[in-house]
Amino acid sequence: MTSDLHHVFNQIADGLAGPGYAVIDPFLSPREAEAILGSDEFSKPKLHFRKAGIGKEDKQINEAIRGDYIQWIDPVTAPAPEQVYLRRLHDLIAFLNENLYLSLKDVEIHRTVYPVGTFYRRHLDQFRLDDHRKLSLICYLNPDWREEQGGQLILYLPEGELKIMPERGRLVCFRSDQIEHEVLPANRERYSLTGWAVDRLPELR
Ligand code: OGA
Ligand code: MN
Repeated sequence: MTSDLHHVFNQIADGLAGPGYAVIDPFLSPREAEAILGSDEFSKPKLHFRKAGIGKEDKQINEAIRGDYIQWIDPVTAPAPEQVYLRRLHDLIAFLNENLYLSLKDVEIHRTVYPVGTFYRRHLDQFRLDDHRKLSLICYLNPDWREEQGGQLILYLPEGELKIMPERGRLVCFRSDQIEHEVLPANRERYSLTGWAVDRLPELR
């Protein structure tokens, strides 16, 4: 592990052990983020993505709650730039297991597109009937995001709201069982990789 990465992993561990979240700039370099966004999957999102649902048992689509489109990443067939990201997350969960005594086993990640004007209302990432999601991990891909374009992530913390811009290469990590959050509408299409560190083994594929 490079000393830069070691520093980043320590920052994340400190954030999770303290306030329950961390914002890392950058987690992916501009070049790495650009390579991910350049894949066929992201360049023709309408062909590949499907509307995200709500809840685990009931995949009901409710535009009043969320408007994003998603596509799950299969770690076996993922393009090389995404493999780089997945490998870094696996290194991260090994580090957190060792340093915070967690028992994270895998990461589950999807590509995400929020079309212009869409949002995700205030929610928690743990399902009512499934508490395997322990950490939420979101990495943003759009270059040169500007405040007036909207699309901020809001974390609802005990001390108040924290607004985070979806800037290229930035990683936001937080405890899935504790931190309610929301995605504000944007006037620009918004791209990210969204996922969770889970405490169960991957399903056989
Ligand atoms: C989610 C989510 C936040 C973001 O997909 O559950 O809350 O900033 N995403 O994209
Ligand atoms: Mn969420």
